[in-house]
Amino acid sequence: MRTQVGIIGAGPAGLLLSHLLHLQGIESIILESRSREDIEGTIRAGVLEQGTVDLLNSTGVGERMMREGHVHDGIELQFNGKRHRIDFHELTGGKRIMVYAQHEVIKDLVAARLHAAGQVYFNVSDVNLRQIESTTPKIQFRLEPEGELQEIECDFIAGCDGFHGPSRQAIPANVRIEKQKIYPFGWLGILAKTPPVNPELIYANHERGFALLSTRSPEIQRHYIQVDPKDDIKNWSDDRIWTELHARVDLDDWILKDGPIIQKNIVSMRSFVCETMRYGNLFLAGDAAHIVPPTGAKGLNLAAADVQVLARGLSEYYRSSEEDLLNRYSEICLRRIWKAQRFSYWMTTMLHRNLEHSSFEYNIQLAELDYVTSSQAAAISLAENYVGLPMEIQTNYSIKI
Ligand code: APR
Ligand code: PHB
Repeated sequence: MRTQVGIIGAGPAGLLLSHLLHLQGIESIILESRSREDIEGTIRAGVLEQGTVDLLNSTGVGERMMREGHVHDGIELQFNGKRHRIDFHELTGGKRIMVYAQHEVIKDLVAARLHAAGQVYFNVSDVNLRQIESTTPKIQFRLEPEGELQEIECDFIAGCDGFHGPSRQAIPANVRIEKQKIYPFGWLGILAKTPPVNPELIYANHERGFALLSTRSPEIQRHYIQVDPKDDIKNWSDDRIWTELHARVDLDDWILKDGPIIQKNIVSMRSFVCETMRYGNLFLAGDAAHIVPPTGAKGLNLAAADVQVLARGLSEYYRSSEEDLLNRYSEICLRRIWKAQRFSYWMTTMLHRNLEHSSFEYNIQLAELDYVTSSQAAAISLAENYVGLPMEIQTNYSIKI
């Protein structure tokens, strides 16, 4: 087999890249180790920046999102028993965010790729990157677990296989620059069958730990509480989860509505950047290159930003043999990534209870929240980061569907 761009991973990064390349007449093949049902059913985060929403719309895959997603004009920060609204729309000159679950974005992108006869192979195994420094890098894989080893020869490989995939590991360790921070925080996330609790997301700093109230649909809500990252979900009965949520978010005149919990799990948190986003003809995008703690809601949006830069670089290369953008891929992406890392780190440290810290740091957190919610300059800073900083590379797609 041969293709122009071999893409490893059918997460938001791989699928969106394949879609953007297709719109520019560039051929790609996606290899995904999980099944279609699995990737379309895995519960992840769900906040899309204004720029991500615009990109999905302008490339013809935003229709269901516009129908079923929820546009939010701001968020609420809760501390010291009071809520304070940050009005993104007003503070950023008209920008908003969209709450639309990541696996719904995945469904829309898979449907678009298959509708356009895109080549997406699910359930592949033994994916192995070869000769990535050459002009004909190759991906080996098996279509069936016991099947024959196959090979795709490519011009470029896009490693979109998430944090645990093989692409980043294919870059020799002695040239790979990686930086990371592990937090002593985990998030216990639930999906609950309850009506919406608030028109906008509520981020709560509480002495017992952080809590976040989010939404999915008129019937299903998504909430999180900070827990020990090493804790076992078996220790958390539904009753215990609701009791803890009530303790952290209820106000004198407001009580959270509870109901049946239909899904629950615990995830740990890290900030990670692999600064070597290009090696030879391998390009890393999305979680393969960076992880942010979810407090800033940036994960999917950063993946979308990377692949916009990559798609534009590849398009210039195929149109005019111009390699300048591809050569600057890491540099351009990293500027946005480090700013998103800064914002996610800041939101995380401002909102979580760190048991290793003294009451001094707790008071600093409260002062930070007080400042953000009382100074317009500080509130604008939060708002412009949350809705998404401007893209350095502008892309205009003409829709061909
Ligand atoms: N071979 C093929 N596919 C693989 C392999 C492999 N060896 N290893 C991993 N994959 C697949 C995973 O099954 C997954 O579907 O790569 C895909 C990576 O997708 P994501 O982890 O969703 O990463 P990305 O597309 O970069 O999207 C980033 O996802 O993790 C969230 O919060 C994060 O929103 C962010 C977004
Ligand atoms: C979510 O709805 O899953 C969600 C919202 C905001 C975040 C993280 C996750 O910061």
